[in-house]
Amino acid sequence: MKILVLHGPNLNLLGRREPEIYGSLTLDEINTRLTGLGETLGAEIVCEQSNHEGALIDALHAAREWADGVVFNPGGYTHTSIALRDAVTAIGIPVVEVHLSNVEAREEFRHRSLISPVCAGKVSGFGWRSYALGLRALVDLLNEV
Ligand code: DQA
Repeated sequence: MKILVLHGPNLNLLGRREPEIYGSLTLDEINTRLTGLGETLGAEIVCEQSNHEGALIDALHAAREWADGVVFNPGGYTHTSIALRDAVTAIGIPVVEVHLSNVEAREEFRHRSLISPVCAGKVSGFGWRSYALGLRALVDLLNEV
């Protein structure tokens, strides 16, 4: 089983960016933990990050060819991007939306996700563990099929 973990804009700054909201782990540290968790779950993890909407769309399209599912933190594009939502729909493999912070407990503009309705599910508010929980759920879902 192969899983893409895809991080959106500004997540390259994790560890330094508003650590009181997003935690103190860097993106590399999170990716290392997810790769280790993947090993115990029997899944090969490939991690990618981009600050660019088009590059995220390209990564989703490419995943269609090689991945069984995607754990996706679309960052700020969660709340704005119809194009990313369309890409999630287009690839036809399960995508789990994850957020480090509890987006519903924050500013109103973060309450709406354009991505959630086309995802298999969503995990938010557990810091880096949102990714771990999302990965576990996705692997579980794929094992059932
Ligand atoms: C985020 C939440 C978004 O609202 C924000 O724009 C981010 C990070 C999160 O992981 O909590 O960049 O996706």
